[in-house]
Amino acid sequence: MALVTTTEMFKKAYSGGYAIGAFNVNNMEIVQGITEAAGEFNSPVILQVSKGARAYANHTYLVKLVEAAVQENPDIPMALHLDHGDSFEICKSCIDGGFTSVMIDCSSMPFEDNVKITKQVVDYAHDHGVVVEAELGTLAGVEDEVSVEHGSESYTHPDEVEEFVTRTGCDSLAIAIGTSHGAYKFKASQCTRNEEGILVPPPLRFDILEECIRRLPGFPIVLHGSSSVPQEFVKIVNQYGGNMPDAIGIPEAELRHAAELAVCKINIDSDIRLAMTATIRKYMAEHPDHFDPRQYLKPARQAVKDMVAHKIQNVLGSAGKA
Ligand code: G3H
Ligand code: 13P
Ligand code: ZN
Repeated sequence: MALVTTTEMFKKAYSGGYAIGAFNVNNMEIVQGITEAAGEFNSPVILQVSKGARAYANHTYLVKLVEAAVQENPDIPMALHLDHGDSFEICKSCIDGGFTSVMIDCSSMPFEDNVKITKQVVDYAHDHGVVVEAELGTLAGVEDEVSVEHGSESYTHPDEVEEFVTRTGCDSLAIAIGTSHGAYKFKASQCTRNEEGILVPPPLRFDILEECIRRLPGFPIVLHGSSSVPQEFVKIVNQYGGNMPDAIGIPEAELRHAAELAVCKINIDSDIRLAMTATIRKYMAEHPDHFDPRQYLKPARQAVKDMVAHKIQNVLGSAGKA
């Protein structure tokens, strides 16, 4: 199977009450870890590339790595997606360069500008058989060079979603309901603490999600900033010389619930970073004499695979849906 768009994936995910994982890729080990898990659990998957990933690894290298993964997993539907495209030009470059899906993220712009640029991308993308994700509302956290302070994020206004989707023709919509990018999704002051002193975050705004669903029946919704920042990995990082105090993510049960509703795409990057970093830190501490990168990248790749396998089975519900 060649790379596919997300159209069929989302249709089945919507009616089946599950979501497709969209995992960020930056190098070979990450591509392999994700797609080996998708292959083993027979799950469709979205591999997404940020502007920063293109700057780090180069567009061509990333496309070729993903093409290799497609060849190695011929029965798995895979989409190659641009994450947080911030201009028509970067979207065009990815559409022309082999991507099957792009995100145009003008969510920090005024509504009319967001509509205008999104529509321009949609027109070009649809002419080339590519689908488009757009965004309304802003998340806190860091994505590429854009950093939004906690408190400056804004939830999606459900009364805007119908007009936005109708006027732009976008294929899916990312909304802001309280998730945020990175490994520090909430300030300690927004949370309570459990008896072990671990932060407990405020719940996502399912009321906003439900209102968006009511206004856009059958339309695929996307959640960004959906890493759960598993505390066992934070502990390993901290135990082996790292320093990630109060790192906190979105509880898996909330993501599972969102996947049962209209959320068809769940974005996960930080959990992969955390799994790799924890594994490499531990490996380095336990093998101070090793210096062959394959020695520590092999368990790191396995950690990516295990993390993605866990998400597919226990969070997304996409196992067996390829
Ligand atoms: O939303 C942001 C993603 O985690 C990508 O991060 O821009 O550092 O590659 P990046
Ligand atoms: P996390 O930082 O929660 O993994 O979110 C990733 C993301 O939204 C990529 O677009
Ligand atoms: Zn994102």
